[in-house]
Amino acid sequence: MKRRDFLQNGALGMAGFMLPSKTAWNSTAASRAADSRIEVLFDEPLGTISPNIYGHFAENLGGVLYDGIWVGEKSRVPNIDGVRKDLIEHMRKVKAPVIRYPGGCFADSYDWRDGIGPADKRPRRTNFWANAESEKSPQNHRYDPNTVGTNEFVHFCKLIGAEPYLAANVRSLPAEAFQHWVEYCNSPAGSTTLADVRAAAGYAEPFRVKYWGVGNESWGCGGEFTAQEYAVEFRRYTAWLPRFGDDLSLIASGPNTDDWSWTREFLTELVRKGPGQLRRVYGMALHHYAWNLSRGKTQNWEAGKGEALKFDSVDWYELLREGERMEGLVTGHWHVLSEFDREHRVKLVVDEWGPWYRPGGEATPGNLLEQIPTLRDAVFSGMTLDIFNRHPEKIAMANCAQLINCLNNLYLAHEDKFVITPVGHVFELYASHQGGSALRTIFSAPTLHYDRDGKPATFWGLRGSTSVRDKSLTMTVVNPSTSESRLAEIAFRSATVKEAAIRWMSDPDIHAHNTFEHRDALAPRTKQLSVNDGALVVEFPPACVAALNVQLN
Ligand code: AHR
Repeated sequence: MKRRDFLQNGALGMAGFMLPSKTAWNSTAASRAADSRIEVLFDEPLGTISPNIYGHFAENLGGVLYDGIWVGEKSRVPNIDGVRKDLIEHMRKVKAPVIRYPGGCFADSYDWRDGIGPADKRPRRTNFWANAESEKSPQNHRYDPNTVGTNEFVHFCKLIGAEPYLAANVRSLPAEAFQHWVEYCNSPAGSTTLADVRAAAGYAEPFRVKYWGVGNESWGCGGEFTAQEYAVEFRRYTAWLPRFGDDLSLIASGPNTDDWSWTREFLTELVRKGPGQLRRVYGMALHHYAWNLSRGKTQNWEAGKGEALKFDSVDWYELLREGERMEGLVTGHWHVLSEFDREHRVKLVVDEWGPWYRPGGEATPGNLLEQIPTLRDAVFSGMTLDIFNRHPEKIAMANCAQLINCLNNLYLAHEDKFVITPVGHVFELYASHQGGSALRTIFSAPTLHYDRDGKPATFWGLRGSTSVRDKSLTMTVVNPSTSESRLAEIAFRSATVKEAAIRWMSDPDIHAHNTFEHRDALAPRTKQLSVNDGALVVEFPPACVAALNVQLN
Protein backbone atom coordinates (compact mmCIF):
# COMPACT_ATOMS: atom_id res chain seq x y z
CA MET A 1 0.00 0.00 0.00
CA LYS A 2 1.17 3.53 -0.71
CA ARG A 3 0.51 6.63 1.41
CA ARG A 4 -1.67 7.93 -1.35
CA ASP A 5 -3.96 4.83 -1.17
CA PHE A 6 -4.10 5.04 2.58
CA LEU A 7 -5.24 8.65 2.38
CA GLN A 8 -7.66 8.01 -0.45
CA ASN A 9 -9.41 5.32 1.56
CA GLY A 10 -9.29 7.34 4.73
CA ALA A 11 -8.28 4.06 6.33
CA LEU A 12 -5.32 2.79 8.28
CA GLY A 13 -4.90 -0.13 7.54
CA MET A 14 12.33 -3.06 22.42
CA ALA A 15 14.75 -4.19 21.78
CA GLY A 16 16.03 -2.49 24.99
CA PHE A 17 18.89 -0.35 23.80
CA MET A 18 20.53 1.67 26.54
CA LEU A 19 23.30 4.18 26.36
CA PRO A 20 26.36 3.07 28.32
CA SER A 21 25.92 5.38 31.27
CA LYS A 22 24.46 8.67 32.35
CA THR A 23 26.78 11.21 30.76
CA ALA A 24 28.28 13.82 32.98
CA TRP A 25 28.29 17.34 31.58
CA ASN A 26 31.67 18.94 30.99
CA SER A 27 31.43 22.47 29.77
CA THR A 28 35.15 22.89 29.28
CA ALA A 29 37.74 20.67 27.70
CA ALA A 30 38.90 18.98 30.84
CA SER A 31 40.64 15.69 30.31
CA ARG A 32 40.55 15.14 26.54
CA ALA A 33 41.20 17.00 23.35
CA ALA A 34 38.31 18.29 21.29
CA ASP A 35 37.27 15.94 18.47
CA SER A 36 34.99 18.44 16.73
CA ARG A 37 34.94 22.05 15.67
CA ILE A 38 32.12 24.50 15.06
CA GLU A 39 32.84 27.79 13.37
CA VAL A 40 30.28 30.59 13.14
CA LEU A 41 30.78 32.87 10.14
CA PHE A 42 29.34 36.25 11.10
CA ASP A 43 30.19 37.70 7.72
CA GLU A 44 28.09 35.07 5.92
CA PRO A 45 24.47 35.82 6.84
CA LEU A 46 21.92 33.51 5.23
CA GLY A 47 18.75 35.54 5.77
CA THR A 48 16.13 36.13 8.45
CA ILE A 49 14.54 33.05 9.99
CA SER A 50 10.80 33.42 9.56
CA PRO A 51 9.13 32.89 12.96
CA ASN A 52 6.53 30.88 11.03
CA ILE A 53 9.11 28.11 10.52
CA TYR A 54 8.12 27.23 14.10
CA GLY A 55 4.47 26.75 13.10
CA HIS A 56 1.96 24.07 14.05
CA PHE A 57 -0.72 21.96 12.47
CA ALA A 58 -4.04 21.03 14.11
CA GLU A 59 -6.33 18.84 12.04
CA ASN A 60 -9.80 17.68 13.06
CA LEU A 61 -8.44 14.15 13.34
CA GLY A 62 -8.56 11.67 16.23
CA GLY A 63 -7.92 13.40 19.54
CA VAL A 64 -6.36 16.60 18.18
CA LEU A 65 -9.36 18.89 18.36
CA TYR A 66 -11.83 17.27 20.74
CA ASP A 67 -10.13 16.34 24.03
CA GLY A 68 -6.76 17.71 22.85
CA ILE A 69 -7.38 21.39 22.19
CA TRP A 70 -11.05 21.76 23.02
CA VAL A 71 -12.52 20.64 26.35
CA GLY A 72 -15.52 23.00 26.43
CA GLU A 73 -16.32 25.98 28.63
CA LYS A 74 -18.16 23.85 31.20
CA SER A 75 -15.42 21.25 31.54
CA ARG A 76 -13.77 20.53 34.89
CA VAL A 77 -10.49 20.64 32.94
CA PRO A 78 -9.01 24.12 33.43
CA ASN A 79 -9.80 26.06 30.27
CA ILE A 80 -10.02 29.50 28.77
CA ASP A 81 -13.20 29.88 26.74
CA GLY A 82 -13.30 26.11 26.20
CA VAL A 83 -9.64 25.70 25.21
CA ARG A 84 -7.33 23.65 27.44
CA LYS A 85 -5.45 26.12 29.65
CA ASP A 86 -2.19 24.14 29.96
CA LEU A 87 -1.96 24.07 26.19
CA ILE A 88 -2.44 27.82 25.84
CA GLU A 89 0.19 28.49 28.48
CA HIS A 90 2.89 26.33 26.92
CA MET A 91 2.15 27.52 23.39
CA ARG A 92 2.62 31.09 24.61
CA LYS A 93 5.91 30.04 26.12
CA VAL A 94 7.22 28.59 22.84
CA LYS A 95 5.94 31.69 21.00
CA ALA A 96 3.76 29.62 18.65
CA PRO A 97 3.56 31.85 15.56
CA VAL A 98 0.98 30.17 13.30
CA ILE A 99 -1.42 27.22 13.35
CA ARG A 100 -2.74 25.42 10.28
CA TYR A 101 -6.34 24.14 10.45
CA PRO A 102 -8.67 22.22 9.87
CA GLY A 103 -6.54 19.79 7.82
CA GLY A 104 -4.90 17.88 6.22
CA CYS A 105 -7.23 15.56 4.41
CA PHE A 106 -10.09 16.71 6.64
CA ALA A 107 -9.97 20.15 4.98
CA ASP A 108 -11.20 18.92 1.60
CA SER A 109 -14.29 17.35 3.16
CA TYR A 110 -15.06 20.27 5.49
CA ASP A 111 -17.79 22.84 5.01
CA TRP A 112 -16.89 25.85 7.14
CA ARG A 113 -20.56 26.89 7.12
CA ASP A 114 -21.32 23.91 9.42
CA GLY A 115 -19.12 25.46 12.09
CA ILE A 116 -20.67 28.91 12.53
CA GLY A 117 -23.77 30.17 14.34
CA PRO A 118 -25.02 28.87 17.72
CA ALA A 119 -23.02 25.77 18.68
CA ASP A 120 -26.11 23.74 19.65
CA LYS A 121 -27.65 24.28 16.20
CA ARG A 122 -24.62 23.11 14.24
CA PRO A 123 -24.94 19.86 12.25
CA ARG A 124 -23.09 16.65 13.01
CA ARG A 125 -21.12 15.35 10.04
CA THR A 126 -19.12 12.27 9.25
CA ASN A 127 -15.45 13.09 9.77
CA PHE A 128 -13.09 12.36 6.85
CA TRP A 129 -11.21 9.99 9.16
CA ALA A 130 -14.34 8.08 10.31
CA ASN A 131 -13.50 4.92 8.33
CA ALA A 132 -10.20 4.62 10.12
CA GLU A 133 -11.52 5.07 13.65
CA SER A 134 -11.65 2.04 15.96
CA GLU A 135 -14.37 0.92 18.33
CA LYS A 136 -12.35 2.55 21.13
CA SER A 137 -12.65 6.01 19.54
CA PRO A 138 -15.20 8.38 21.04
CA GLN A 139 -18.23 9.34 18.95
CA ASN A 140 -17.11 12.91 18.35
CA HIS A 141 -13.97 11.69 16.60
CA ARG A 142 -16.07 9.82 14.05
CA TYR A 143 -18.98 12.24 13.85
CA ASP A 144 -17.92 15.85 13.95
CA PRO A 145 -20.22 17.87 16.25
CA ASN A 146 -18.85 21.12 14.79
CA THR A 147 -18.64 22.59 18.30
CA VAL A 148 -15.33 24.01 17.19
CA GLY A 149 -15.62 26.09 14.05
CA THR A 150 -13.91 29.16 12.64
CA ASN A 151 -14.76 31.43 15.60
CA GLU A 152 -13.46 29.03 18.20
CA PHE A 153 -10.31 28.20 16.25
CA VAL A 154 -9.42 31.82 15.51
CA HIS A 155 -10.12 32.70 19.14
CA PHE A 156 -7.74 29.90 20.20
CA CYS A 157 -5.05 31.43 17.97
CA LYS A 158 -5.67 34.87 19.46
CA LEU A 159 -5.36 33.48 23.00
CA ILE A 160 -1.83 32.28 22.27
CA GLY A 161 -0.83 35.12 19.93
CA ALA A 162 -0.59 32.94 16.79
CA GLU A 163 -1.80 33.62 13.25
CA PRO A 164 -4.45 31.28 11.85
CA TYR A 165 -3.68 29.48 8.58
CA LEU A 166 -6.90 28.07 7.11
CA ALA A 167 -6.99 25.36 4.46
CA ALA A 168 -9.86 25.73 1.99
CA ASN A 169 -11.82 22.85 0.51
CA VAL A 170 -11.07 22.44 -3.21
CA ARG A 171 -12.25 18.84 -3.61
CA SER A 172 -15.86 19.11 -2.48
CA LEU A 173 -16.89 22.78 -2.29
CA PRO A 174 -17.14 25.36 -5.07
CA ALA A 175 -14.86 28.38 -5.35
CA GLU A 176 -17.74 30.52 -4.12
CA ALA A 177 -17.58 28.84 -0.69
CA PHE A 178 -13.91 29.80 -0.44
CA GLN A 179 -14.74 33.42 -1.28
CA HIS A 180 -17.46 33.43 1.35
CA TRP A 181 -15.17 31.93 3.99
CA VAL A 182 -12.71 34.78 3.37
CA GLU A 183 -15.64 37.20 3.54
CA TYR A 184 -16.88 35.67 6.80
CA CYS A 185 -13.43 36.01 8.36
CA ASN A 186 -12.25 39.30 6.96
CA SER A 187 -15.10 41.60 5.93
CA PRO A 188 -15.26 44.72 8.10
CA ALA A 189 -17.83 45.01 10.89
CA GLY A 190 -21.26 45.87 9.50
CA SER A 191 -20.19 45.51 5.86
CA THR A 192 -21.68 42.17 4.73
CA THR A 193 -24.33 39.72 5.88
CA LEU A 194 -21.57 37.32 6.87
CA ALA A 195 -19.85 40.05 8.93
CA ASP A 196 -23.19 40.40 10.74
CA VAL A 197 -23.33 36.64 11.38
CA ARG A 198 -19.79 36.84 12.79
CA ALA A 199 -20.75 39.82 14.95
CA ALA A 200 -23.81 37.98 16.28
CA ALA A 201 -21.41 35.32 17.61
CA GLY A 202 -19.47 38.01 19.46
CA TYR A 203 -16.78 38.75 16.88
CA ALA A 204 -17.62 42.12 15.37
CA GLU A 205 -14.06 42.91 14.33
CA PRO A 206 -12.69 41.03 11.31
CA PHE A 207 -10.34 38.14 11.98
CA ARG A 208 -8.00 39.35 9.22
CA VAL A 209 -6.90 35.82 8.33
CA LYS A 210 -3.91 36.18 6.06
CA TYR A 211 -2.74 32.62 5.30
CA TRP A 212 -4.99 30.44 3.16
CA GLY A 213 -4.24 27.00 1.79
CA VAL A 214 -5.87 26.25 -1.57
CA GLY A 215 -6.70 22.61 -0.90
CA ASN A 216 -4.45 20.00 0.68
CA GLU A 217 -2.54 17.13 -0.92
CA SER A 218 -4.51 17.68 -4.09
CA TRP A 219 -2.57 14.80 -5.66
CA GLY A 220 -4.35 12.42 -3.21
CA CYS A 221 -7.12 12.88 -0.65
CA GLY A 222 -7.59 16.48 -1.80
CA GLY A 223 -9.12 15.48 -5.14
CA GLU A 224 -6.84 13.00 -6.94
CA PHE A 225 -5.90 15.74 -9.38
CA THR A 226 -3.03 15.62 -11.77
CA ALA A 227 -0.64 18.54 -11.31
CA GLN A 228 -2.05 20.13 -14.46
CA GLU A 229 -5.66 19.71 -13.32
CA TYR A 230 -4.83 21.17 -9.93
CA ALA A 231 -3.09 24.17 -11.49
CA VAL A 232 -6.28 24.89 -13.44
CA GLU A 233 -8.30 24.67 -10.21
CA PHE A 234 -5.76 26.83 -8.39
CA ARG A 235 -6.11 29.54 -11.03
CA ARG A 236 -9.90 29.36 -10.81
CA TYR A 237 -10.10 29.35 -6.98
CA THR A 238 -7.71 32.26 -6.71
CA ALA A 239 -8.81 34.28 -9.77
CA TRP A 240 -10.78 36.48 -7.42
CA LEU A 241 -10.96 36.61 -3.65
CA PRO A 242 -12.05 39.55 -1.50
CA ARG A 243 -9.07 41.37 0.05
CA PHE A 244 -10.60 44.06 2.30
CA GLY A 245 -7.40 46.09 2.13
CA ASP A 246 -5.14 43.27 3.30
CA ASP A 247 -2.98 41.05 1.15
CA LEU A 248 -3.76 37.34 1.30
CA SER A 249 -0.94 34.80 1.34
CA LEU A 250 -2.15 31.88 -0.76
CA ILE A 251 -0.47 28.52 -0.44
CA ALA A 252 -0.70 26.02 -3.28
CA SER A 253 -0.98 22.33 -2.56
CA GLY A 254 2.49 21.02 -3.27
CA PRO A 255 4.46 17.85 -3.68
CA ASN A 256 4.66 14.74 -1.57
CA THR A 257 8.32 14.29 -0.60
CA ASP A 258 10.44 13.98 -3.78
CA ASP A 259 7.69 14.27 -6.36
CA TRP A 260 9.60 16.79 -8.45
CA SER A 261 7.24 16.36 -11.35
CA TRP A 262 4.31 17.68 -9.27
CA THR A 263 6.17 20.93 -8.63
CA ARG A 264 7.35 21.27 -12.23
CA GLU A 265 4.06 20.34 -13.90
CA PHE A 266 1.98 22.51 -11.57
CA LEU A 267 4.14 25.52 -12.35
CA THR A 268 4.27 24.76 -16.07
CA GLU A 269 0.48 24.75 -16.28
CA LEU A 270 0.08 27.74 -13.95
CA VAL A 271 2.25 30.02 -16.09
CA ARG A 272 0.67 28.85 -19.32
CA LYS A 273 -1.58 31.88 -18.73
CA GLY A 274 1.47 34.07 -18.29
CA PRO A 275 4.24 34.51 -15.72
CA GLY A 276 2.06 36.99 -13.77
CA GLN A 277 0.12 33.98 -12.45
CA LEU A 278 3.03 33.33 -10.11
CA ARG A 279 2.15 36.47 -8.20
CA ARG A 280 -0.88 34.67 -6.82
CA VAL A 281 1.30 32.09 -5.09
CA TYR A 282 2.78 33.03 -1.75
CA GLY A 283 4.03 29.54 -1.03
CA MET A 284 4.18 26.05 -2.38
CA ALA A 285 3.41 23.41 0.24
CA LEU A 286 5.77 20.48 0.75
CA HIS A 287 4.92 17.41 2.86
CA HIS A 288 7.44 14.92 4.11
CA TYR A 289 6.81 12.24 6.70
CA ALA A 290 9.64 10.01 7.94
CA TRP A 291 7.81 6.70 7.87
CA ASN A 292 9.99 4.15 6.12
CA LEU A 293 12.19 2.46 8.72
CA SER A 294 12.52 -0.78 6.76
CA ARG A 295 16.25 -0.33 6.17
CA GLY A 296 15.71 -0.27 2.43
CA LYS A 297 13.64 -3.48 2.29
CA THR A 298 10.29 -2.08 1.13
CA GLN A 299 8.44 0.97 -0.06
CA ASN A 300 5.14 -0.37 1.26
CA TRP A 301 3.35 2.23 3.38
CA GLU A 302 2.17 -0.32 5.98
CA ALA A 303 5.08 -2.74 6.03
CA GLY A 304 7.76 -0.07 6.00
CA LYS A 305 6.75 1.65 9.21
CA GLY A 306 8.50 1.18 12.54
CA GLU A 307 7.37 1.49 16.13
CA ALA A 308 7.34 4.66 18.20
CA LEU A 309 8.61 3.14 21.46
CA LYS A 310 10.32 -0.10 20.52
CA PHE A 311 13.45 0.38 18.48
CA ASP A 312 17.15 -0.35 18.46
CA SER A 313 20.01 1.95 17.57
CA VAL A 314 19.82 1.07 13.86
CA ASP A 315 16.14 2.08 13.87
CA TRP A 316 17.22 5.30 15.57
CA TYR A 317 19.58 6.12 12.69
CA GLU A 318 17.02 4.94 10.17
CA LEU A 319 14.58 7.60 11.35
CA LEU A 320 17.26 10.27 11.27
CA ARG A 321 18.22 9.23 7.73
CA GLU A 322 14.60 9.67 6.66
CA GLY A 323 14.55 13.07 8.36
CA GLU A 324 17.81 14.09 6.77
CA ARG A 325 16.13 13.84 3.38
CA MET A 326 14.42 17.14 4.18
CA GLU A 327 17.51 19.14 3.23
CA GLY A 328 17.58 17.65 -0.28
CA LEU A 329 13.81 18.11 -0.63
CA VAL A 330 14.05 21.78 0.27
CA THR A 331 16.94 22.48 -2.09
CA GLY A 332 15.51 20.22 -4.83
CA HIS A 333 12.03 21.75 -4.92
CA TRP A 334 13.59 25.20 -4.62
CA HIS A 335 15.68 24.42 -7.67
CA VAL A 336 12.55 23.53 -9.63
CA LEU A 337 10.79 26.68 -8.39
CA SER A 338 13.77 28.71 -9.56
CA GLU A 339 13.28 27.56 -13.13
CA PHE A 340 9.96 29.41 -13.15
CA ASP A 341 10.43 32.15 -10.59
CA ARG A 342 13.82 33.75 -11.05
CA GLU A 343 13.05 36.49 -8.53
CA HIS A 344 12.37 33.87 -5.85
CA ARG A 345 9.06 35.39 -4.80
CA VAL A 346 7.41 32.00 -4.25
CA LYS A 347 8.63 30.31 -1.07
CA LEU A 348 8.33 26.82 0.29
CA VAL A 349 5.81 26.09 3.04
CA VAL A 350 6.62 22.75 4.66
CA ASP A 351 3.18 22.49 6.20
CA GLU A 352 3.39 18.84 7.28
CA TRP A 353 6.53 17.18 8.63
CA GLY A 354 7.43 14.61 11.27
CA PRO A 355 7.83 10.89 11.93
CA TRP A 356 4.90 8.54 11.32
CA TYR A 357 4.94 5.16 13.10
CA ARG A 358 2.63 2.18 12.89
CA PRO A 359 -0.43 2.18 15.17
CA GLY A 360 -0.40 0.53 18.59
CA GLY A 361 1.52 3.01 20.73
CA GLU A 362 -1.26 5.46 21.58
CA ALA A 363 -1.23 7.22 24.95
CA THR A 364 -5.03 7.14 24.90
CA PRO A 365 -6.42 4.01 23.20
CA GLY A 366 -8.73 5.01 20.36
CA ASN A 367 -6.87 8.19 19.43
CA LEU A 368 -6.18 7.73 15.74
CA LEU A 369 -2.56 8.34 14.61
CA GLU A 370 -1.49 9.11 18.16
CA GLN A 371 2.09 8.21 19.05
CA ILE A 372 4.26 8.89 22.07
CA PRO A 373 7.36 10.87 21.09
CA THR A 374 10.70 9.81 22.56
CA LEU A 375 14.20 11.26 22.68
CA ARG A 376 14.58 9.96 19.10
CA ASP A 377 11.77 12.25 17.95
CA ALA A 378 13.26 15.17 19.86
CA VAL A 379 16.60 14.70 18.09
CA PHE A 380 14.76 14.27 14.77
CA SER A 381 12.76 17.47 15.37
CA GLY A 382 15.83 19.47 16.34
CA MET A 383 17.62 18.23 13.26
CA THR A 384 14.66 19.20 11.04
CA LEU A 385 14.32 22.68 12.54
CA ASP A 386 18.06 23.15 12.01
CA ILE A 387 17.59 22.32 8.33
CA PHE A 388 14.86 24.97 8.09
CA ASN A 389 17.06 27.51 9.87
CA ARG A 390 19.83 26.86 7.37
CA HIS A 391 17.52 27.77 4.45
CA PRO A 392 15.76 30.92 5.62
CA GLU A 393 15.59 32.42 2.13
CA LYS A 394 13.66 29.40 0.84
CA ILE A 395 11.24 28.53 3.64
CA ALA A 396 8.46 30.93 4.62
CA MET A 397 6.65 28.57 6.98
CA ALA A 398 6.71 25.05 8.37
CA ASN A 399 4.09 23.24 10.43
CA CYS A 400 4.95 20.25 12.58
CA ALA A 401 2.41 17.45 12.15
CA GLN A 402 0.66 17.59 14.53
CA LEU A 403 0.19 19.77 17.57
CA ILE A 404 -1.39 17.45 20.12
CA ASN A 405 -2.39 13.77 20.39
CA CYS A 406 -1.26 13.00 16.84
CA LEU A 407 2.00 12.00 15.11
CA ASN A 408 4.95 14.23 16.12
CA ASN A 409 2.93 15.93 18.84
CA LEU A 410 4.24 18.59 21.20
CA TYR A 411 1.61 17.60 23.76
CA LEU A 412 -0.41 14.62 24.86
CA ALA A 413 -3.69 15.20 26.66
CA HIS A 414 -6.69 13.24 27.79
CA GLU A 415 -9.41 14.67 30.00
CA ASP A 416 -7.55 16.38 32.87
CA LYS A 417 -4.17 14.83 31.98
CA PHE A 418 -1.64 16.85 30.04
CA VAL A 419 2.03 16.34 29.32
CA ILE A 420 4.68 18.15 27.29
CA THR A 421 6.48 15.67 25.05
CA PRO A 422 10.21 15.84 24.21
CA VAL A 423 9.16 17.44 20.89
CA GLY A 424 7.36 20.19 22.82
CA HIS A 425 10.57 20.80 24.74
CA VAL A 426 12.55 21.09 21.49
CA PHE A 427 10.24 23.90 20.34
CA GLU A 428 11.04 25.66 23.59
CA LEU A 429 14.81 25.15 23.13
CA TYR A 430 14.66 26.52 19.58
CA ALA A 431 12.21 29.41 20.14
CA SER A 432 14.87 32.12 20.28
CA HIS A 433 15.82 31.43 16.64
CA GLN A 434 12.54 33.03 15.55
CA GLY A 435 13.20 36.24 13.63
CA GLY A 436 16.98 35.92 14.06
CA SER A 437 19.51 36.37 11.29
CA ALA A 438 20.82 32.93 10.30
CA LEU A 439 24.59 32.63 10.03
CA ARG A 440 26.50 30.09 8.04
CA THR A 441 28.13 27.72 10.48
CA ILE A 442 30.60 24.98 9.71
CA PHE A 443 30.26 21.80 11.76
CA SER A 444 33.19 19.47 11.56
CA ALA A 445 33.01 16.20 13.50
CA PRO A 446 33.96 12.56 12.99
CA THR A 447 31.48 10.66 10.82
CA LEU A 448 29.46 7.98 12.62
CA HIS A 449 29.88 4.40 11.50
CA TYR A 450 27.40 1.63 12.27
CA ASP A 451 26.27 -1.73 11.02
CA ARG A 452 23.06 -1.60 8.96
CA ASP A 453 22.02 -5.22 8.65
CA GLY A 454 25.50 -6.46 7.86
CA LYS A 455 26.40 -3.50 5.66
CA PRO A 456 28.54 -0.59 6.82
CA ALA A 457 26.59 2.66 7.12
CA THR A 458 27.49 6.21 8.07
CA PHE A 459 25.80 9.33 9.40
CA TRP A 460 27.14 12.80 10.10
CA GLY A 461 28.67 13.43 13.51
CA LEU A 462 27.38 16.84 14.63
CA ARG A 463 25.16 19.46 13.00
CA GLY A 464 23.00 22.42 13.85
CA SER A 465 22.23 26.03 13.06
CA THR A 466 23.03 29.51 14.34
CA SER A 467 21.18 32.81 14.43
CA VAL A 468 21.95 36.17 15.93
CA ARG A 469 19.96 39.16 17.05
CA ASP A 470 21.97 42.17 18.22
CA LYS A 471 24.44 40.70 20.70
CA SER A 472 22.39 37.57 21.41
CA LEU A 473 23.28 34.41 19.57
CA THR A 474 21.40 31.11 19.51
CA MET A 475 23.16 27.97 18.36
CA THR A 476 21.31 24.67 18.29
CA VAL A 477 23.22 21.43 17.97
CA VAL A 478 22.32 17.79 17.49
CA ASN A 479 24.59 14.90 18.39
CA PRO A 480 22.95 11.91 16.66
CA SER A 481 25.28 9.25 18.04
CA THR A 482 23.62 6.78 20.37
CA SER A 483 26.93 6.02 22.07
CA GLU A 484 29.56 8.71 21.66
CA SER A 485 29.78 12.17 23.09
CA ARG A 486 31.42 14.94 21.07
CA LEU A 487 33.73 17.58 22.45
CA ALA A 488 33.56 20.65 20.25
CA GLU A 489 35.60 23.82 20.10
CA ILE A 490 33.30 26.64 19.07
CA ALA A 491 34.90 29.56 17.28
CA PHE A 492 33.12 32.78 16.47
CA ARG A 493 34.78 34.48 13.52
CA SER A 494 35.06 38.22 14.28
CA ALA A 495 33.27 38.08 17.65
CA THR A 496 34.02 37.03 21.20
CA VAL A 497 31.80 35.56 23.86
CA LYS A 498 30.86 37.42 27.03
CA GLU A 499 28.80 34.69 28.62
CA ALA A 500 27.01 31.54 27.53
CA ALA A 501 24.57 28.96 28.79
CA ILE A 502 23.42 25.65 27.40
CA ARG A 503 20.01 24.02 27.61
CA TRP A 504 19.94 20.43 26.45
CA MET A 505 18.09 17.17 26.44
CA SER A 506 19.66 13.73 26.42
CA ASP A 507 19.31 10.54 28.37
CA PRO A 508 21.14 7.23 28.74
CA ASP A 509 17.99 5.54 27.46
CA ILE A 510 17.31 6.47 23.83
CA HIS A 511 13.64 5.53 24.38
CA ALA A 512 13.17 8.12 27.14
CA HIS A 513 9.76 9.78 26.90
CA ASN A 514 7.16 11.48 29.02
CA THR A 515 3.84 9.96 30.03
CA PHE A 516 0.83 11.15 32.00
CA GLU A 517 2.35 9.36 35.01
CA HIS A 518 5.95 10.48 34.48
CA ARG A 519 5.60 13.93 33.02
CA ASP A 520 9.20 15.04 33.51
CA ALA A 521 11.09 11.87 32.62
CA LEU A 522 12.74 13.87 29.85
CA ALA A 523 13.09 17.62 30.13
CA PRO A 524 15.74 20.19 29.27
CA ARG A 525 18.49 20.95 31.73
CA THR A 526 20.44 24.20 31.90
CA LYS A 527 24.05 24.97 32.67
CA GLN A 528 26.23 28.04 32.53
CA LEU A 529 29.32 27.53 30.35
CA SER A 530 32.82 28.78 31.08
CA VAL A 531 34.33 31.05 28.47
CA ASN A 532 38.01 30.65 27.57
CA ASP A 533 39.60 33.53 25.68
CA GLY A 534 36.25 34.56 24.24
CA ALA A 535 35.57 31.07 22.84
CA LEU A 536 33.85 27.91 24.06
CA VAL A 537 34.57 24.22 24.37
CA VAL A 538 31.40 22.22 24.83
CA GLU A 539 30.72 18.55 25.29
CA PHE A 540 27.59 17.20 23.63
CA PRO A 541 26.54 13.91 25.19
CA PRO A 542 25.24 11.07 23.01
CA ALA A 543 21.69 11.35 21.67
CA CYS A 544 21.49 15.02 22.44
CA VAL A 545 19.67 18.10 21.23
CA ALA A 546 20.98 21.33 22.68
CA ALA A 547 20.59 25.10 22.49
CA LEU A 548 23.39 27.48 23.38
CA ASN A 549 22.42 31.00 24.29
CA VAL A 550 25.46 33.19 23.88
CA GLN A 551 25.91 36.86 24.76
CA LEU A 552 28.57 38.49 22.60
CA ASN A 553 30.87 41.34 23.54
O1 AHR B 1 -1.29 14.46 9.16
C1 AHR B 1 -2.10 13.40 8.78
C2 AHR B 1 -2.41 13.40 7.28
O2 AHR B 1 -1.23 13.27 6.58
C3 AHR B 1 -2.99 14.68 6.74
O3 AHR B 1 -4.37 14.74 6.90
C4 AHR B 1 -2.63 14.61 5.30
O4 AHR B 1 -2.53 15.87 4.69
C5 AHR B 1 -1.32 13.87 5.31
O5 AHR B 1 -1.24 12.91 4.35
